[in-house]
Amino acid sequence: MELENLDQLKRTHTCGALRLDDEGRSVVLMGWVHRRRDLGPLTFVDLRDRSGITQIVFDADRNEQAHGRAKNLRSEYVVAVRGIVLRRAPETVNANIATGKVEVLAERVHVLNVAKTPAMPIDDSAKTLPAEEIRLKYRYLDLRRPRMQANLALRHRAALLVRRYLDRQGFLEIETPMLIKSTPEGARDFIVPSRIHPGEFYALPQSPQLFKQLLMISGMDRYFQIVRCFRDEDIRSDRQPEFTQIDIEMSFPSPEDIYGMIEPMIKELCGLIGVEVSLPLPRVSYDQAILRYGSDKPDTRFAMEICDLTSAFQGTGFAPYAQVLDAGGVIRAIVVEGGARYSRKQTDELAETVKRAGAQGLAWIKLAEGAVQSPLAKAVGDLKIQEVVKLVRAPQNSIVLLVAGRPVVVAAVLGALRLEIAQSEGLIDEGRFSFLWVVDFPMFEWDENEKRWNAMHHPFTSPREEDMELLESDRGSVRAKAYDLVLNGVELGGGSIRMHRSDIQRRVFDAIGLSPEEARQKFGFFLDALEYGAPPHGGIAFGFDRLVMLLAGEQSIREVIAFPKTASATDLMIDSPSPVSEDQLLELGIALRRRPDESKDRPASA
Ligand code: AMO
Repeated sequence: MELENLDQLKRTHTCGALRLDDEGRSVVLMGWVHRRRDLGPLTFVDLRDRSGITQIVFDADRNEQAHGRAKNLRSEYVVAVRGIVLRRAPETVNANIATGKVEVLAERVHVLNVAKTPAMPIDDSAKTLPAEEIRLKYRYLDLRRPRMQANLALRHRAALLVRRYLDRQGFLEIETPMLIKSTPEGARDFIVPSRIHPGEFYALPQSPQLFKQLLMISGMDRYFQIVRCFRDEDIRSDRQPEFTQIDIEMSFPSPEDIYGMIEPMIKELCGLIGVEVSLPLPRVSYDQAILRYGSDKPDTRFAMEICDLTSAFQGTGFAPYAQVLDAGGVIRAIVVEGGARYSRKQTDELAETVKRAGAQGLAWIKLAEGAVQSPLAKAVGDLKIQEVVKLVRAPQNSIVLLVAGRPVVVAAVLGALRLEIAQSEGLIDEGRFSFLWVVDFPMFEWDENEKRWNAMHHPFTSPREEDMELLESDRGSVRAKAYDLVLNGVELGGGSIRMHRSDIQRRVFDAIGLSPEEARQKFGFFLDALEYGAPPHGGIAFGFDRLVMLLAGEQSIREVIAFPKTASATDLMIDSPSPVSEDQLLELGIALRRRPDESKDRPASA
């Protein structure tokens, strides 16, 4: 096929632009052949670009040459069409597309490029999408789908809104370096070898945490950045090795100032998709979140809150429960409305899940047709069962699911059961946007493997003033000035008020077992900076991909990232990661060694 150049051709309209008002106009459209239908002397071509689809009609009676050329058009050919806008007859109007009342009668078609048969259909109407490997390998085709184009357009609008909003609030967008020294956000670093300093490495930032604090020390007052971050961790539907944060820091704030700054921005962002959010957003303490929802990122689109029954079972003499209670454990429950219909098999399966998660086991009470039924009744007596039913306010036809064990395990198990059951019972209103601030996080969490305390947020988070004296004596009870924003069970963002005093910073390093020498070696520059008049400061960072995912109604952040990685952290399109040449390694002074767990396929370099 002979291809033509653009030459003097100028596009007059995009493929989503034409309306009835344009009737009679001579236009030039350019785009991709979406579909072609031949009906004898008439050939119809749907021409597509980012903005939409316009029907082009080639009529052999009016223009034989153009009609002849149209026969050669194939899916995804790139063409320019010159023609006249016609009003469609009422019976041929297509109400599904914005241009559906008109069509363009082609006078001339210019084939600008041909295309192989696409490796995947450019079609959103198909029930199932092609396999993810195909979508990612041919991402440029996948991105032609209107849904993906809409997602990226929404992402753009969200970024623009954030920039405009923060600009109005006096924030400056300041770039921070990508080649840095390790930042402690708890994941592994991606490291980059230095050619100029053989044997030395940069790290890619897990977040700009220390830089944004340094910008506060620099007197920048209010900083933000829509910034790429890198974390070498296992990938999930809401995690990528490189992802984008809306990173924010301000000087002299209280947590209230941060909430007050963020909430209107969140409201505006939701406005992008027509969702009304009423402010202020609700808050819950970390302790309450764990107690009531079994999670520090609870999905509050549905209730099914966890009830504590520990004191109700005190002294019942039922041995398995007595053991749990003696060991400082708890007994808690959730009520599933309509769950009385659960079969024996279903409750057995739930019990297995619970055991696998490390809890004692699952007990249940069913309320069906006025009768109360429970395997526990024999052990604790009917009266106790009645008392429990009252305490948890179980309605008719419900089932009460009880779990006993260590508090952390019971919370995790019931938190997971709550989610699983809500999903399977269809209790989640997918159209709802349920925000929740989780506040008053513990400062430290105990790492059983390493037998030491870790900072739960990060070690630059300030303890609450009233807990400062517990830093040395009772670390488990120290609460932090840290907060997360949760949306529909997804952690959207997290932040804290930081330490601006070097003496307290040192005590926190000490609490997490970082010796003064180690602290100096890792963060000496930062400890020094704290000595030069650091203002009180604090901030937050949002997962921008997660935010856009939720706004777009998608289940995975891969749907809102133009070129994401697969679940095994590879880029199938550009084939990355990939080996580098011996020369490159030599230049960097790097010799490869085989890891003990690695297959023998890869040759180790000299
Ligand atoms: P944090 O580690 O909580 O805090 O990260 C902030 C937010 O970033 C998002 N996020 C991710 N999104 C996609 N893929 C990932 N691998 C990934 N990891 C994190 C989450 C998370 O809530 N420096 C602090 C912020 C601060 O204290 O101001 C920080 O990075 O939505």
